[in-house]
Formats: sequence, C-alpha cells, structure tokens
Amino acid sequence: MTKRPFKLGPLNHVGVAVPDISKSISMYKTIFEVEAITEPKVLVEQGVTFAFVNLPSGQVELIEPYGDKSPITKFLEKNPKGGQHHICFEVEDISTACLAMVEKGMRVLNAPRIGAHGTPVVFLHPSDAGGVLIELMETPKHT
Ligand code: CO
Repeated sequence: MTKRPFKLGPLNHVGVAVPDISKSISMYKTIFEVEAITEPKVLVEQGVTFAFVNLPSGQVELIEPYGDKSPITKFLEKNPKGGQHHICFEVEDISTACLAMVEKGMRVLNAPRIGAHGTPVVFLHPSDAGGVLIELMETPKHT
C-alpha cells in the first residue's frame, strides 16, 4: 500500500489555558506591550472563550473555560495559574490529514469541527505525540 502523502504546514498558534482571560490580555498589553489582541469570543461547542495575541511569527491563543463541560477545566485544576495547553499546526485539507494520521496509528480525538479561525480542526492524542496535545487546523482559504 502506498502511503498517503502528508505535509505539515506552518505553526499557527500556541494554545495557553488561562483562568481569567481579561487578566491575561492585560498582562500581554502591559508587560509585553502588545496591542494586537483580538476581542474575546465564545466558542460554545468547544467550551472556551478565546482571544488571539497576534505576533509577527504567529499567535498565542488564550483560552478560558466556558460552561460546565469545558475540556480545559480539568487542565486548570491541575495548573491553577494556567499553562501551555496545545500547539496548532496548519494542514491543507483536514480530511486528508485525518486519514493520514489514522494510517500512521495516531489517535484523532474528535471529528473535524469548526475552530477559532473558522476552519475545521482536530486534536491528536498527546500520548501519541510525545506528551503534546496537537491541534491540526485547515489553513484558512482567502478568496
Ligand atoms: Co487552538
């Protein structure tokens, strides 16, 4: 069987779980003097409020739990001050990427769903990726 080609795209963002997104935004503004930070928005299905800190090299995605069943509540119980939660790489096509990952024995944790950039995303099991939670997101297509 020929292997499905797989091409990892750019590092899009580093996800950081935070207990209080307003405080974290203030911290980036006052300490690091970054002004380019998006307004916090809720992603109901993902159980998070998010904001992007825009940097020349990419983004930091601040995520605060939203709702009772937020997937990051547990993470914050273990890391009450917050901490690095996931890294996100772009891929050209999410379905192709998922098939390639499954073929390589990776556990894909969810069916593709719309992420913070408005394109489909999946997460890979951290135990299959050196202890790092990896998000794959389809590169936004600018028309
Ligand atoms: Co993310």
